[in-house]
Amino acid sequence: MNTAREKPASPEEEDLLFRMLRQLDIAPDASQRTTATALDVSLGRLNAQLRAAAEAGLVRISDRAGPDKRQRFAYSITPRGAAELQRLRDTFLSRKFAEYDALHAELTGTSTGLNPFQHRTKPMQNQHAPIPELYVSHESAQKLKVEAADLPSWDLTPRQICDLELLMNGGFNPLKGFLTEEDYNGVVENMRLADGSLWPMPITLDVSEDFAASIEPGQDIALRDQEGVILAILSVSDRFTPDKAREAEKVFGANDDAHPAVNYLHNHAGPVYLGGPITGIQQPIHYDFRARRDTPNELRAYFRKLGWRKVVAFQTRNPLHRAHQELTFRAAKESQANLLIHPIVGMTKPGDIDHFTRVRCYEAVLDQYPAATTTMSLLNLAMRMAGPREAVWHGLIRKNHGVTHFIVGRDHAGPGKNSAGEDFYGPYDAQELFKQYEEEMGIEMVPFKHMVYVQDRAQYEPADEIEEGVTVLNISGTELRRRLAEGLEIPEWFSFPDVVKELRRTKPPRAKQGFTVFFTGFSGSGKSTIANALMVKLMEMGGRPTTLLDGDIVRKNLSSELGFSKEHRDLNIRRIGYVASEITKNGGIAICAPIAPYATTRRAVREEIEQYGAFVEVHVATSIEECEKRDRKGLYKLAREGKIKEFTGISDPYDAPENPELRLDTEAVDVDYCAQQVLLKLESMGLIGAGS
Ligand code: PPS
Repeated sequence: MNTAREKPASPEEEDLLFRMLRQLDIAPDASQRTTATALDVSLGRLNAQLRAAAEAGLVRISDRAGPDKRQRFAYSITPRGAAELQRLRDTFLSRKFAEYDALHAELTGTSTGLNPFQHRTKPMQNQHAPIPELYVSHESAQKLKVEAADLPSWDLTPRQICDLELLMNGGFNPLKGFLTEEDYNGVVENMRLADGSLWPMPITLDVSEDFAASIEPGQDIALRDQEGVILAILSVSDRFTPDKAREAEKVFGANDDAHPAVNYLHNHAGPVYLGGPITGIQQPIHYDFRARRDTPNELRAYFRKLGWRKVVAFQTRNPLHRAHQELTFRAAKESQANLLIHPIVGMTKPGDIDHFTRVRCYEAVLDQYPAATTTMSLLNLAMRMAGPREAVWHGLIRKNHGVTHFIVGRDHAGPGKNSAGEDFYGPYDAQELFKQYEEEMGIEMVPFKHMVYVQDRAQYEPADEIEEGVTVLNISGTELRRRLAEGLEIPEWFSFPDVVKELRRTKPPRAKQGFTVFFTGFSGSGKSTIANALMVKLMEMGGRPTTLLDGDIVRKNLSSELGFSKEHRDLNIRRIGYVASEITKNGGIAICAPIAPYATTRRAVREEIEQYGAFVEVHVATSIEECEKRDRKGLYKLAREGKIKEFTGISDPYDAPENPELRLDTEAVDVDYCAQQVLLKLESMGLIGAGS
């Protein structure tokens, strides 16, 4: 990087650069004459200084918009300039401090007793000094917001909002924006940015092809949240089409859609990436748990205020039970550090317990920790479940938050099984990779011990330290979910009563949860008839509100403007999926009966619904020959005659489900029997039962 930092500047030069950047930050729209006057230099000197700063990437020169044409160019401070301003401010303060200290010694014969900047040890300085953020001052933000209203804008996805927040507040330091192509290639290939800094995770702005085509590198774009609020400006320097298969292989270890991040990459992320520096305007707005969210600088300030020099962080995306408490106690004791519980509330693994419930659980557990030594803060990170790389990434993020030690467990940020049913990563791969980069990162690893409950001694102990012959108790995550789903006992040695109460509140037994039955099959296969029969049977049982989203009804009420192209069919099914997910979330039963010919769309709907309850796919497997023979609506005849185009099974594809929860063969049996089979399936899945 060619910044002013490379050639040593004299204190006078640094002083002028500092004052100029500060002036541009405070009053970016002032005329050059006013700025020169404020700095007490000639116009010529100011111009030379501005040009040098622009060459070093600290200041951006642009054509001045608006009616005031006396001055052709406008100057604004870049994110790199903001970071330089921060650094110079520290240098300036420490110089002044030294002068004050010397004066104090001269006049009183004693030192000030304060901790001067330049005497701090390196780790202390890193941990205590504020880190660069990408935000402009409040005044500049107000102006930029107005100007940005005219820029082309991109509506950020939930994941991009999480990434942007951590970019802007310094959580992703040293990143200054979304990755350029060169940085992206370095990160994918060997976990390094183009300037050599360690960075294991591609932080990219994926967009649609159409949007990418409407943007030219060199242009600024406004980044908006989902309500349209402008959060930042991206100065687009790069536009490139990534090789997603390579990204999947290198970053996540396999190009396998069973990995949540690979699935996201191929099925959700846009095909083109935009890269370039960010100018931060405002933080994303959070209305939930505000008091529990801290930026890296807020946490650093908190540690500074309390005098916490060593802090060990515990990362989690699950509720805390007694084993975790014991483990965190031990980690804090071993590293002689204060404890930061640092749970993820951005995006975690699909299917995880929602963060609202988890935070209520954490708050219940927090009472069990000594308040003087432990604190909790929520991190709005979008996890990728990338195991070893993720552990290194988490370490860097924690370092930015002022943390000195980090607990890395068995299978840290593990994505579950691959499509062959095997683990993506070895259980200790994350610890090994972390160890490799520990020194460079400047954060120490505290390896996680697997804690189990020793009944004979009524306490938790590390599994590898227990002698043979004692009774060890353990409840796995799967077993816990089973007990919750079936309303079974969860013992006190395993968790805290308040935590269990919270979990039961949001995860009632399966027979009381919402779910979706999703019929798929050819037109005329019998989907609607079976779905109707099922609905009345469920209503007869009572207990949960039930809604039927039949293909024809939906097309009349929700999708009346849609035809039968792939694009329109997908839109139709996604709408059905959305409504069904809302019904499921709110504890109802949604019965859907569209053709839904595409497997990828069905899969997307499944994922959406499974966040809230069960998704039961029922393939009504009546053959196309039989459907055509029945031809109850006369549509097959019209399709054969070419009068209806794109007719499923005749002139349009149908992907038969490979692993539906149930496949119904309707040819030799009646509707009542088919509906019974669905009911039996629901019963075997625990979704209906006595009292439901
Ligand atoms: S899709 O593909 O899931 O969006 O289709 P869906 O909304 O379920 O379609 C519902 C009914 O539309 C009638 N119809 C067609 N089906 C397939 N292909 C074409 N081109 C077509 N044109 C009209 C058909 O009667 C479907 O009704 P069902 O209830 O499946 O018999």
